[in-house]
Amino acid sequence: MKFWSGVIIAVALVATPACGRDAAAQPEHDARPDSAAAKVPPGVAIASAHALATEAGLEIIREGGNAFDAAIAVSAALSVVEPISSGIGGGGFFLLHQAEEDRDVFLDARETSPAAVSSDDYLTEDGEFDRDRATNGPWAAGIPGLPAAFVHLANEYGQLPLERSLAPAIRLADEGFPVYGRMERGYQSRAEVMERYPGTRDTFLIDGRAMREGDTFRQPDLARTLERLAADGFDGFYRGRTAELLLEGVQAEGGVWTADDLASYKVVEREPLRLNYHEWEIVTAPPPSYGGVALAQMLQILAGWELEELDPALRAHLTVESMRRAFRDRTFYLGDPDFVDIPMETLTSRDYAAGLRATIHPQRATPSDMLSGEPTPLEGDETTHFSIIDAQGNRVAATQTVNLLYGSGLVPPGTGVLLNNEMDDFALQPGEANAFGVMGFDANAPEPGKSMLSSMTPTFMLSDDRIAVLGTPGGTRIITMVLLGILGYDAGLDAQSVAALPRFHHQWLPDRISAERGAFSPEVIARLREMGHEVDAPDEQDEMRRSAGRTSSHSWGNLQTVAWNLRDNTLEGGTDPRNEVGSAEVQLTPEP
Ligand code: DON
Repeated sequence: MKFWSGVIIAVALVATPACGRDAAAQPEHDARPDSAAAKVPPGVAIASAHALATEAGLEIIREGGNAFDAAIAVSAALSVVEPISSGIGGGGFFLLHQAEEDRDVFLDARETSPAAVSSDDYLTEDGEFDRDRATNGPWAAGIPGLPAAFVHLANEYGQLPLERSLAPAIRLADEGFPVYGRMERGYQSRAEVMERYPGTRDTFLIDGRAMREGDTFRQPDLARTLERLAADGFDGFYRGRTAELLLEGVQAEGGVWTADDLASYKVVEREPLRLNYHEWEIVTAPPPSYGGVALAQMLQILAGWELEELDPALRAHLTVESMRRAFRDRTFYLGDPDFVDIPMETLTSRDYAAGLRATIHPQRATPSDMLSGEPTPLEGDETTHFSIIDAQGNRVAATQTVNLLYGSGLVPPGTGVLLNNEMDDFALQPGEANAFGVMGFDANAPEPGKSMLSSMTPTFMLSDDRIAVLGTPGGTRIITMVLLGILGYDAGLDAQSVAALPRFHHQWLPDRISAERGAFSPEVIARLREMGHEVDAPDEQDEMRRSAGRTSSHSWGNLQTVAWNLRDNTLEGGTDPRNEVGSAEVQLTPEP
């Protein structure tokens, strides 16, 4: 066991764009004398959406843990300090690289449908889609996967007992942490739903009132639930006292979870999806994520042009057209691969991408209705991602979620566990758009034990010079943010600049580009409009459109990335400057 006393904190808390740029820098570290590619990193790098979670990971590394133990610590700590985004009442995907075996694994800890649920349960008496049931309360919640992921990571990949890796999260739940602005604002927007449920009121109200920024937020019930998980592993959550409390709480609100739904939950190890772009090998999320398939299509479409050599408007046009085409296939073909046959070979092939490329007019937008479908609304700002590289070269890219802000809003009394509202990611009614404006049909219809389709796309990028780990929340926008992140690394940006990159997005329907401030110059916006694109970007008209409720242009995402530069053997971290509490840190291994 290696103790990490006297480590050097090379990258401090990053909270603003200005100090974000500084964060990419790090003190000099001995490069390999022969300048050959490094065999092991000079330390550990962790980037997450909350400084307390990053610190939890570093604490576990100092105690002799590896990246997988640290992943449990970061993930569990995020579950405590970012209930707005993810938690042990939700699920996630963990992309792992085991350095010693040179092996990549995609750990699928996505929620599953309770057995007693069917599409008809999400219709009102009038036969309309019941959006409230799909997103709020017990019917919205799938069977959680994150606790099972912790157990699996500790048993199969970690070096420390689960009890040790969960200790920082348990401490944070007991001692509390300061409420931050995003957490308070998110609570306000979900208060009506959350205060419907007694267990949620017990957990989230502070002295009988809504939380305010700066309050100390403690979760003693959640600490006890985590302790039972730490002590008894899988049975400490999916059977026994915690399971009883979860079932009582869900059933008291009219839900249909059974003991068997919980006891039969299993994480699945899947083969990651691999593709090549320029000199990079990209290792990313397979179904039940749609992310990898979409990345394969977009990058293979884009590989037909020298993007860097094109003018910015043309580059944006072609990138948007690749996004438009990749999102269309999601609707019809994608679902849980254990339940549906997905034509993966076709969808991810170069030939298919070349066919899609051929339908792109170099100067004109393709109207999405020429590719068929119906218009739909857009996105939210929840979920969370973290990235880790350790000193052995192990890597973790993990994206985890309770879906929308504060999930279903339901905490079964006595558990402190806020349940997800992931059922909305199923196509609960054929052709009916979900909260992210995407729809689906049979391939993504709910079935007992089936996982709902996801956009979460934890990703590795590997070249002879550099290894990068990245991902972000953002619903359907996750995929286009990861695409832009890959293009950013490909263009040679440092990790912090990749996290800060201005974003734009197109998802086939609605047929519109949304862009953040700074993504496009006024000239590029004008050129895109001339080409026939609708562009929703902040400009002089923005306030007018915003006040008329017609704009979705704002900041989005929370990208967390780390990179290992093999030539000079340095580590760097990038944390999204849009998030006030994130942090990317590098700790160098002390010289012997
Ligand atoms: O798995 C998915 O695709 C969604 N449940 C992720 C939700 C998300 O990223 C929310 N953030 N905006």
